[in-house]
Amino acid sequence: MHFINALNQGFGIAGCLQFEAGPGGLPVATIGTAQASAQVALQGAHLLSWQPAGQQPVLWLSSAAEFAPGKPVRGGVPVCWPWFGPLADKGQHGFARNRPWSVRASALDAEGRVVLCLGLGADGQTRALWDHDFDLELQLTLGQTLEMTLRTRNTGAAAFDITQALHTYFRVGDIGQTRVLGLAGCDYLDKTQAMARLTQHGDLGFGGETDRVYLDTAGDCLIDDPVLRRRIRIAKAGSRSTVVWNPWADKVMADMAPGEYAGMVCVETCNAGPDAVTLAPGQTHALSARIALD
Ligand code: BG6
Repeated sequence: MHFINALNQGFGIAGCLQFEAGPGGLPVATIGTAQASAQVALQGAHLLSWQPAGQQPVLWLSSAAEFAPGKPVRGGVPVCWPWFGPLADKGQHGFARNRPWSVRASALDAEGRVVLCLGLGADGQTRALWDHDFDLELQLTLGQTLEMTLRTRNTGAAAFDITQALHTYFRVGDIGQTRVLGLAGCDYLDKTQAMARLTQHGDLGFGGETDRVYLDTAGDCLIDDPVLRRRIRIAKAGSRSTVVWNPWADKVMADMAPGEYAGMVCVETCNAGPDAVTLAPGQTHALSARIALD
């Protein structure tokens, strides 16, 4: 409790932002303003929910999600870093999503949005997995729109490469009726077909397992959801790849209930596959996404 009290004293904002023990006892920041409600777990700097006022929740969180120290959470926005996808015996999607982050700053901006800044640095455990010195910072701006900026700074003496994702799980009414707009004409690597390089013709619809790394995607994507009668716009910067993922019915996952795949789609703001980022000592890279209901 001492830890939570100290967080509230240092970073709480009366009536808008408070820290508490969340699911599984993990510390969370709970945000409630006239613009939006949201919850962020300090483990992984993981945005668990975001709901603009007067709207339905925008993010999807599995009903079977596990909340435990060192375990990734299924849903919300996992931060995949410093690698995206599987890496030999080191696991999938890097370690940032499993590590405890610290709170660096909080504020209410001029527009009444909560700005929360979380950070992560190298230690013995991260060096055992990835032997580099770094400073990683996630800034979340939570209002009627959601802005996420992940800044990587190379604080070491040698260059390093990263791949990464703001692995955003969106809630949809029915995946079979959902379409993703904005990728027509883009090439993609299809993970369900041994990374075959194919081209997207027209808008993207879903009729089975979908796991694709779209390349050279700098423009906005739109998720068209006729069931929830809304369109979600994803704008981004510092990212040239977009991953679209839905596991469909056949893939059994302990932290996803049967049938739940129908209510979600991941459209991930990435630097993935050939889109790795190289940072020389002292250099910083910013990956950002802005999510809005159109
Ligand atoms: C996606 C990948 O980004 O994440 C998929 O493209 C993967 O291949 C999915 O299955 C979920 O990964 P994880 O590690 O959270 O189960």
